[in-house]
Amino acid sequence: MKVLVIGGGGREHALCWKLAQGASVDAILVAPGNAGTAEIARNVDVSPDDHDAVSSLCQQEAIGLVVVGPEAPLCKGLADRLRADGFPVFGPGAGGAELEGSKAFSKDLMGQHGIPTAGFRTFNDAQFARDYLEGDIPFPVVVKASGLAAGKGVLICPDRDAALAAIDTLMEQRQFGISGDTVVIEEFLVGEEVSVHAITDGRTILTLPTSEDHKRVFDDDQGPNTGGMGAVSPSTRLDQAGIARVERDTMLPTLNALARGDRPYCGVLYAGLMVTRGASKVLEFNVRFGDPETQVILPRLKCDLGELLLTCAEGRLESIDDKAFDWDSRSAVTVVLSSGGYPGAFTRGHPIEGISDANAMDGVTVFHAGTALVGGKVVTAGGRVLSVTALGSDLTDARARAYEAVSLISFEDMHFRTDIGTRALRGVLEAEA
Ligand code: AMP
Ligand code: GLY
Repeated sequence: MKVLVIGGGGREHALCWKLAQGASVDAILVAPGNAGTAEIARNVDVSPDDHDAVSSLCQQEAIGLVVVGPEAPLCKGLADRLRADGFPVFGPGAGGAELEGSKAFSKDLMGQHGIPTAGFRTFNDAQFARDYLEGDIPFPVVVKASGLAAGKGVLICPDRDAALAAIDTLMEQRQFGISGDTVVIEEFLVGEEVSVHAITDGRTILTLPTSEDHKRVFDDDQGPNTGGMGAVSPSTRLDQAGIARVERDTMLPTLNALARGDRPYCGVLYAGLMVTRGASKVLEFNVRFGDPETQVILPRLKCDLGELLLTCAEGRLESIDDKAFDWDSRSAVTVVLSSGGYPGAFTRGHPIEGISDANAMDGVTVFHAGTALVGGKVVTAGGRVLSVTALGSDLTDARARAYEAVSLISFEDMHFRTDIGTRALRGVLEAEA
């Protein structure tokens, strides 16, 4: 079959890379893709916002499966449109995608159905939000733009002044536009963050291996939040019993609530969790694969990804044999190389050296994110530029390989965290203690 992947980041390169390995996939188109996807797929210049154009492309190319990578096209109803036109789509419709597109909606859903999450209040009016913050409430609090903000609309506020400033940034200065017109003010949770992804057709769920993201831009979790600076899989903070608990208390009730609300869900449901001993609370839901989590999950997948996602898109997930849904027991680590200045302003167009040397290392794959081909040369073209993934016999080995590969790559103003995976290693030590 021919697959169309929507998106152009590290996640989409990883999706194309894994799809290309499966016998079910003959060809891949990707819109818009990047310099990495161009090596294994055909990059096409079609905007995901132009639903007519995407549907015509599917028709002309006889696309057998559409995989939507990012959240924005899902929130804008691309999956609904393509499904209505008769194409199998992996990704929820706009109704289900609201789980990510509106934090106010997802918090309400969790509140109504007893799904464990941080205590919260929602505000549409800046003065009401300020009045609440002036009251007798504990700090820190977390102030979140309700709408989409590329992972950057979450402000951790140690005290009242910081929280009032956050309301000003989001609701008065409108740094994230309409995304901040509604804000959620949340209780600050303490624990360890774990990402759980489940593939689902709305009835059956298949939980993928756990992972841990590193959202802050600098080492030791300092600096502003980013889309994600690196990840490891598996997480060391959630054992089999913990995963079963998340399926029972979080994933299934959420899908049931969506179904009852006439929001059928097909695709991947990603819960960002704060885990403490014996409890996991939802920090956020995403309605697509995590980036960079995908870059550590998919290298561990043994089955044919195209077949798995098609089976899901056709609502036949129940028929998947548990044995076919198998994982590499090795660990994976990915380190994101970003443009200096990201998540703020940065420059583009710098030539990148060393990608093929890194790719030549055993167990290493360099996924492209913000890259472009200019005059046959790969140059930087985004905030997150590359995601360097390594498999290793354990976390220590995978980490060493990933950082050795990173040391072979360079571009002007390159930035990366040097501590990806150390948090998970602490988890191993704590479990042994
Ligand atoms: P979100 O996009 O809602 O997942 O938030 C981005 C990041 O902010 C999370 O990965 C956490 O590191 C942090 N965060 C969000 N909500 C909370 C919370 N209630 N307590 C502590 N940290 C939080
Ligand atoms: N890595 C976090 C996200 O994809 O939202």
